[in-house]
Amino acid sequence: MIFYFSGTGNSKWVAERIAEKINDTVYDIAKKEKIPKIEKEKQIGLVFPIYAWGIPEPMVSFAKKLKKLEIFTFAICTCGADAGIALKKLSKIYPLDSSYSIVMPSNYIIGEDLEEELFILKKIELAKIEIEKISNEIIMRRKVYCVNEGKFPILKSNVINIGFNKFARTTTPFYADKEKCNSCGLCEKICPASTIKLVNGNPIWNEKCYQCLKCINYCPQNAIQYGKETEKRGRYNIEKYL
Ligand SMILES: Cc1cc2nc3c(=O)[nH]c(=O)nc-3n(C[C@H](O)[C@H](O)[C@H](O)COP(=O)(O)O)c2cc1C
Repeated sequence: MIFYFSGTGNSKWVAERIAEKINDTVYDIAKKEKIPKIEKEKQIGLVFPIYAWGIPEPMVSFAKKLKKLEIFTFAICTCGADAGIALKKLSKIYPLDSSYSIVMPSNYIIGEDLEEELFILKKIELAKIEIEKISNEIIMRRKVYCVNEGKFPILKSNVINIGFNKFARTTTPFYADKEKCNSCGLCEKICPASTIKLVNGNPIWNEKCYQCLKCINYCPQNAIQYGKETEKRGRYNIEKYL
């Protein structure tokens, strides 16, 4: 079984493609359902995005609770560029036989603008080749550590990641432009942290946020902003490019 967490669809897409190739099933850990029984599984995979060279909080909590069995285990992170030592840290929580990173389009539009369309499409095409290779290695049970850690990985996955989790995940800058928002409620429905509530038709963000950026990237009206900078920036979700 492949367990995934995904904000804007990259990790979901990777998890589903890998599952198809290795003849396995996927499970979205953001679902508020009971975790399926895994005793009869032939392998366990974890797929998720990289946030500030670390693992998203819901995946950390999930991995801590996941039963450790004597079967093949792998993790695949998707990232815009590099992953630091996030997967080495994850393997301390949940032992991994194989670890991979796949470069995918960046959804971090609160930090920088969307990448060029051609660059996004190229990343997706290259990812398809990576997925093919990874799937074959999983089938062959090859133990691999194939992660693009980038420069200064220890510093990024420790100091910067701690800073991100402590200070950067604030929801204060989120707001919905009242002229554009039509109170459709999609943001409330899709937020994996259940942090958004419509009050008199206006989305209000509570404190808990994974910063997956699903709300801002999927808003059909482009009404959601994070501070002033995002007003001029594009929005990303993988469905737009498939
Ligand atoms: C809060 C946040 C932090 C991110 N940090 C990193 C990072 O440290 N390194 C990187 O290469 N990409 C980073 N990204 C980009 C995502 O990891 C990448 O776009 C990922 O494929 C998104 O997956 P998803 O569509 O499944 O949510 C970040 C994205 C977000 C939202």
